[in-house]
Amino acid sequence: MHETKGSEAMRVAVLTGGGDCPGLNAAIRAVVRKSTVAYSDDVIGFRNGWHGVIEDDAIPLDVARCRGILPRGGTILGTSRVNPFKVPGGVERSIATLERRGVDAVVAIGGEGTLSVSRQLAEAGVPVVGIPKTIDNDVNCTDYTIGFDTAVQIAVEAIDRLHTTAESHDRVMVCEVMGRHVGWIALYSGLAAGAAVVIVPEEPFDLALVAGHLARRHEKGRFASIVVVAEGAKPKEGTLDLPPAEIDQFDHERLGGIGSIVARELEDLTRLECRVTILGHVLRGGTPSAFDRVLATRFGIAAVDAAHDGAFGHMVALKGAKIERVTLAAATAELKRLDRSLVEDVARVFLE
Ligand code: F6P
Repeated sequence: MHETKGSEAMRVAVLTGGGDCPGLNAAIRAVVRKSTVAYSDDVIGFRNGWHGVIEDDAIPLDVARCRGILPRGGTILGTSRVNPFKVPGGVERSIATLERRGVDAVVAIGGEGTLSVSRQLAEAGVPVVGIPKTIDNDVNCTDYTIGFDTAVQIAVEAIDRLHTTAESHDRVMVCEVMGRHVGWIALYSGLAAGAAVVIVPEEPFDLALVAGHLARRHEKGRFASIVVVAEGAKPKEGTLDLPPAEIDQFDHERLGGIGSIVARELEDLTRLECRVTILGHVLRGGTPSAFDRVLATRFGIAAVDAAHDGAFGHMVALKGAKIERVTLAAATAELKRLDRSLVEDVARVFLE
């Protein structure tokens, strides 16, 4: 199925898979505009991620259909976490749909799950190019993913508000943010909003240590402490029992709620009043930041160029200020976890 079309017109299909995030519509719009304006391509959008490919559920896309979607959150195509490799006949049906519709290139906008499926399908001969998105910012080989900047901005605005009420009441405010396997949102929002403690999945936590730290802070006369905790944070073995989480088709845990446990335990340990706020899906909703709109637009344009160059099995990525191509194999080989130097050099100085 792989063929280099160069400047020749193609039939391009675009889909959004996995959890949604602000900036997906900006990416769809860029794919459609670049394809139709620069290459006279015909573009369709599969609905609800890989589910639409398996079920042959697609809509035509053109510049008119994409008018006004740039600042809109969510995705006009819908999304799902359906994995063709976990649906009986899913791969065969997906390939049959693409052949029947004469699709020359699929632009898959997704996180780790969607991009891993893209890699496997590319290995099976499907012409796929990936665009990385997820508020978690955990896709390997790219500095940023679409949605992360907006999620951090929303979290910072919320934590700034928690600060003033925490100060009035001399309380500890625990703020739970998303971040299944990584603490990018927690660390960035904690640093930007002046948190006292940030708890991330990369480093198992010990609440006795956190409590001691908070108690010392409040003894010194501090009157408010913000504790940011990523939903995927795990206690040090033997320190705290957590209820088991549900698992989805991508073998992901359905998380949310660690903040309440942390707040309850910290209140017991410190005798300070603790309250919890779980930001959850608020971080995934609403209008994208200017940074995410620009990133999504640049990724969309670059993905269409990659498709015309026959660079299938690749993902577009941000490296410094440049958009580059990396293999889907490298992008999905492992998750991009927090950089230890960032935790050690920056966080240890400013989180206190
Ligand atoms: O997309 C990533 C993410 O937002 C994670 O941070 C979170 O654990 C998960 O999605 C939640 O997924 P769902 O919307 O399916 O509950």
